[in-house]
Amino acid sequence: MKITARQEALLKRTFIDYQQVTEFLRDPLIVDRAQGVYYWDTEGKRYFDAIGGIFVATLGHGHPRLMDAMRQQMEKMTFAPPLHGIADVTLDFVERLGAVAPGNLKYVKGFSGGSEATESAMKFVRQYFKQTGHPGKYKFISRYQGYHGGTAGAMSASGTGPRKTKFEPQMPGFVKVFPPTHYRNQFASWEECNRFAAQAVEDVIIAEDPETIAGFIVEPVGNTGGIITPTAEYFQILRRICDRYNVILIFDEIITGFGKTGAMFAAQTYGVTPDIICCGKGLSSGMVPIGAMIAREDMAEAFWGAASDDVQFAHGHTFAGNPLASAVGIAVIDEIVENRLDEKALRMGERLRARLEGLKKHGVVREVRGRGILLGVELVKDTRTLAPFPELGAALKKTALKSGLILRVDPSWFAISPALVANDAELDEMCALIEESFVAAVEQALTTPRPTARA
Ligand SMILES: Cc1ncc(COP(=O)(O)O)c(C=O)c1O
Repeated sequence: MKITARQEALLKRTFIDYQQVTEFLRDPLIVDRAQGVYYWDTEGKRYFDAIGGIFVATLGHGHPRLMDAMRQQMEKMTFAPPLHGIADVTLDFVERLGAVAPGNLKYVKGFSGGSEATESAMKFVRQYFKQTGHPGKYKFISRYQGYHGGTAGAMSASGTGPRKTKFEPQMPGFVKVFPPTHYRNQFASWEECNRFAAQAVEDVIIAEDPETIAGFIVEPVGNTGGIITPTAEYFQILRRICDRYNVILIFDEIITGFGKTGAMFAAQTYGVTPDIICCGKGLSSGMVPIGAMIAREDMAEAFWGAASDDVQFAHGHTFAGNPLASAVGIAVIDEIVENRLDEKALRMGERLRARLEGLKKHGVVREVRGRGILLGVELVKDTRTLAPFPELGAALKKTALKSGLILRVDPSWFAISPALVANDAELDEMCALIEESFVAAVEQALTTPRPTARA
C-alpha cells in the first residue's frame, strides 16, 4: 500500500514489533478498521485476517455480543480500586474461567496481557514453594524455541534465539530443554521422538537437583518453533515426571486457549491437566488487553493465613482484573460454550487441513501440523533433502499481503488461526487466498538468486 509522508514520518517515530522499520516501509500495512474476519487498510483495501490479528480475534473483530458486554460495563464502571476492593464483574470472571478450566484449576487472577500472566505464574510458584517447605525450589525449566512473553522473567523462560540473545544475560534460574522437533530426524516415529524428548526432562531435573526445580513451563502447541505439536503421550510423561519431583507444570495457553484446538483449553484436547494455565489473547478476542492465570485451588491455600503471617500473594498490577476486561472475557467464554465453538474448531480444522495438505503438490511442504484451527505448514526447499527454504517464507509474507491476506509467516513455516465464527464460504475464500499467494511466493523464491555473502 501507499502511505502518506506524514504516516512515513510518524512510522519513523515508533517501531513495529520485531521488524526493521526501513524494511517495513518498503511494504507497509497501516490498518484502519476491522470487522468479522477482515481488516481494511487506510486506502480501503480489504485483507482476510487468517491469524486473528495474532492468535487473538477468536470470535472475529467487533463481535456484537462482545461490543454489548463492553458497552454495558463501560456505562457502569471501567476501573475498580485495586488496593481497596475488586469489581463484582471480576468475581463473575473468576467463576466463569474456573468453570471452564480443567480439573481443580479454580484459582483465577486476571491480568492485562500474556506476559503478565506468565510472569505472575512464575512468581506465584516461587512464593508457593517458599511457603510450603521447599524454599530452595526456584528454577524453571522451559524449552528452546518456546516463547512466554517479552518481560524479563517471561523472556528468560523463552528460548527463541535472536529474541533473547540481544537482552542477555537472562535472569538466573532458568534451564532449557529441547522440544521434540529437535530430535525428530533421529527417530523412526514421531511417537518415539516425543517419548525421548519428554523423558529427557527427567534427566535435566535430576542433573539440576530436584530440590531446586520449581516449575516446567510449556506451550501445548508451540508457535515460535513452527506450530510444534507434541503427542498426548509427551504431556502424559511430563505430567508424571512433574508429579514425581514436585514440579509445577504450567501450560502457557496464551495462544492455544479458548477453543482453537477443539476444546476450551489444549489441556483438555490433550487430556492432561497442568497445575497452572496462563492465558490471554483470545480471551478478549482483541476487544481489550487481557491475560489470566488459573491455578490449582489447593495451591492457593498456601497463601491464606493471618495478616501477620504475611503469606498473601505479594503481587499486583494496576489493570489486573480490570472490569471491562472481565466483562468481555465472560462474554467470550459464554459465546464459545453456548455455540460449541470448540467443537466447530475441529470441523473447521479438518476442512482447512485438507486444503493445506494440497499445497504439498508444489514439492516445498514438509508437513502440515497443529490441532483444530491452529495449523502450521513447514516449508522446505526439497522434501527429500529437507533443506531449509527461507526465501519462500520471505516471499510469502509479501505475496500474502499483496493478495489481501494476513498470515503468521516465519521464513521456515507459516501458520493460520482463523476466527471460530468464520463460515465455510469465508474459509474457502481464505484457502483460495493462501493458495494464490503461495503459488506466487514459490515462483518468486525459485527465481530469486540467493544473496551472496558480502565481502
Ligand atoms: C505463547 C505465548 N506466551 C506469552 C505471550 C506473551 O503475551 P503478550 O504479548 O500478551 O504479553 C505470547 C505472545 O505472543 C505467546 O505467544
